[in-house]
Amino acid sequence: MMQAHSGQHGSPLLAVRDVSVVFGGIVALNGISFDMKKGQILGLIGPNGAGKTTLFNCLSRLYQPSKGDILLEGDSILTRPAHRIAEFGIGRTFQNVALFPNLTVLDNVRVGAHSRTNSDIVSDSLRLPWVRNGEKAMNKRVDDILGYLELRDFAHTVVSGLPFGTQKRVELARALATEPKILLLDEPAGGLNHEEVYILGDLIRKIRDDRGITVLLVEHHMGLVMSIADHVVALNFGRKLAEGTPTEVQNDPDVIKAYLGSKDQ
Ligand SMILES: Nc1ncnc2c1ncn2[C@@H]1O[C@H](COP(=O)(O)OP(=O)(O)OP(=O)(O)O)[C@@H](O)[C@H]1O
Ligand SMILES: [Mg+2]
Repeated sequence: MMQAHSGQHGSPLLAVRDVSVVFGGIVALNGISFDMKKGQILGLIGPNGAGKTTLFNCLSRLYQPSKGDILLEGDSILTRPAHRIAEFGIGRTFQNVALFPNLTVLDNVRVGAHSRTNSDIVSDSLRLPWVRNGEKAMNKRVDDILGYLELRDFAHTVVSGLPFGTQKRVELARALATEPKILLLDEPAGGLNHEEVYILGDLIRKIRDDRGITVLLVEHHMGLVMSIADHVVALNFGRKLAEGTPTEVQNDPDVIKAYLGSKDQ
């Protein structure tokens, strides 16, 4: 079920405001602004070097913008510590799977879930009641997510032994275990075959529909973006080239020109 819309009518869940990033002399992002509404799947596209990953890394607090602001429910995320990103509701996956290869699926997902418990080392080691209760709730949450992503059969399998497509699902499970408001996906279709991309698309939509999670999707696979995104933002050379429905952006002359001029698609 979709959760009730948060906040005031029309106020964005996430607002990117005039964000610029400069590396040395290179302007990787130049005054980017757009909004994400709650429950939206937003596709971020653009040719190689357009600035997609740079923006993604600003949203996940890996990079600090040189200018501008990023607001989550009206509050700047840029003043909050980067390592606590999961606590304030931003979950992410990595372009190249970044799991603990020698841990089981279960343990990898527990790492995600742990970022949401309020235990600490002292109360953990004393096994205080609230830790035990928190642990029980966490185990249930992890088990629910494994079931939801059809990973229960692999719960005790070491991640490195799983096919790439399954590993990507484990990463998704780990991100979901942080109970994000926004899920940031960096090229989730990379390295997947045609059928796996199709399944992934369904899964992303299902996560949004069932859990009301807002999704930002950086993706080169145009078919996937066009089939699941509600809204698309196209970047080129660090600037916003176009924004609108998938059809609007796909038919935008500037977007077509940018893609024809690149080796990308
Ligand atoms: N850490 C960095 N240091 C210096 N320059 C960088 C860095 N990261 C990105 N850039 C530059 O910033 C620009 C935007 O790069 P970015 O990686 O964000 O593009 P992208 O849209 O993700 O491209 P791709 O589709 O190839 O992944 C490029 O000119 C790139 O060379
Ligand atoms: Mg990139």
